[in-house]
Amino acid sequence: MSKATISTPNYLLDQAKRRLTPSINNFPGMGAVERRLLNTNWTPRKLADPPPDSGLKPVMGDRGLPVVGHLIEMMRGGPEYLQFLYETKGPVIFGDSPVLPGVAALGPDAAQVIYSNRNKDYSQQGWVPVIGPFFNRGLMLLDFEEHMFHRRIMQEAFVRSRLVGYVEQMDKVVSQVVAEDWVVNDARFLLYPAMKELTLDIASMVFMGHEPGTDHELVTKVNKAFTITTRAGNAVIRTSVPPFTWWRGLQARQLLENYFRERVKERRGKDGSDLLTVLCHTADEDGNSFSDEDIVNHMIFLMMAAHDTSTSTATTMAYHLAANAEWQERCRDESDRLGDGPLDIESLEKLESLDLVINEAIRLVTPVQWGMRRTVRDTELLGYYLPAGTNVIAYPGMNHRLPELWTDPLKFDPDRFTEPRSEHKRHRYAFTPFGGGAHKCIGMTFGQLEIKTILHRLLRRYRLELPRPGYKPRWDYGGMPIPMDGMPIVLRRL
Ligand code: HEM
Repeated sequence: MSKATISTPNYLLDQAKRRLTPSINNFPGMGAVERRLLNTNWTPRKLADPPPDSGLKPVMGDRGLPVVGHLIEMMRGGPEYLQFLYETKGPVIFGDSPVLPGVAALGPDAAQVIYSNRNKDYSQQGWVPVIGPFFNRGLMLLDFEEHMFHRRIMQEAFVRSRLVGYVEQMDKVVSQVVAEDWVVNDARFLLYPAMKELTLDIASMVFMGHEPGTDHELVTKVNKAFTITTRAGNAVIRTSVPPFTWWRGLQARQLLENYFRERVKERRGKDGSDLLTVLCHTADEDGNSFSDEDIVNHMIFLMMAAHDTSTSTATTMAYHLAANAEWQERCRDESDRLGDGPLDIESLEKLESLDLVINEAIRLVTPVQWGMRRTVRDTELLGYYLPAGTNVIAYPGMNHRLPELWTDPLKFDPDRFTEPRSEHKRHRYAFTPFGGGAHKCIGMTFGQLEIKTILHRLLRRYRLELPRPGYKPRWDYGGMPIPMDGMPIVLRRL
């Protein structure tokens, strides 16, 4: 029986913080401002004149409000706002925002050009203004030859024989936390922060090799620094001024670098099945391996890439399972057939309904809503002219809701991914929650195994219920989507 409880003062404080911390999403009157902005006719602006006789069209757009551009509509509406743009202005639109001017490349055709990147026109440098200083030289931020060199080495850390070791460790942490630390029969239990803590606990063991409950002080310090670094990309003041978010992000990055440098020294030449130790040993077929500095940079990025994505997916899934009892039963039936023994890849592969629910959850609430790129030379996109140095942003988060691709797009309907419907195959780039092309998520299988481990353990132990009938979370689309109220879910012990 879970012994965990919630303290009322802490709960009230937490709720007050969630509601009262000023943001574009909860400031009084922002809904009216948003409606007004959506109905404003902005002065048109052109990205650049196409070369004469090229037959290309110029990309048109506007500036939006001074200073913030279209940030208010973006952060409040997320994919809905982009769909509004796509339907009213077409697939290629210039946002001349003073903070980050760029071109929105909407729809699956644009996604195909950008992700497949046939002529190597698009570089990953588009991510730099958003997360660059905090995730310097992470795999996603490397380009072309250098990227392939690093990716081939890292790939060895994600082969099936390595995943076997990670699953064993994940399961150890998940079984313990889900069984002992989560509060039952209480509508004040917030799933999102609990899930975030769980995925951090998993990372401490699977990524860094700290057994649960050991090195508590160090792990807490590292996890805190990691959280600060991850948030820093959302800073409003986007330069290093103490004590603001950007500056704190850089300080925290320094702490992480020092920690991982020490840890790499310790783990070189030792055995271990955690990701860090594995990265100390992996080599590609030609024997190339990572330097200490490479491992430090890759580990900091990997933690970020794995953490909020898995947290968001598992939270969205739990919500939809609570809201759709028949799917919850269907998934639980499969879990019941597995029972409570230790999990491995083969057993997780049998949880086929959970695979469908993962897909449907990340279709509806796509953790990585957009893919940032920058043109390295003058090029064209769907007949529009893009000069070198243009930021270009693909939007899987919106493509996943287009009515021309998905039947009743806002409905939770995991069977849309099964034969003969296979709606995700209506276009090669209809469904790209893990990106595509050379930079497609290297941790996709790792993430799916982690998420299934969590949901399996959860479904075996609890029935998931909504806090009230018809409850629907509101999402903050400022960075990765976050449920604004922390997502209350009631756990009933089975
Ligand atoms: C549900 C979970 C996840 C989602 C939705 C997700 C999504 C993505 C997406 C969309 C990209 C491509 C970004 C781009 O094109 O610019 C990506 C790249 C990446 N992801 Fe994931 N990810 C998840 C989990 C993970 C996990 C668990 C790991 C590591 C253990 C990971 C590591 C990476 C890395 C290293 C890259 C960069 C790959 C490259 O540039 O070659 N991800 N991920």
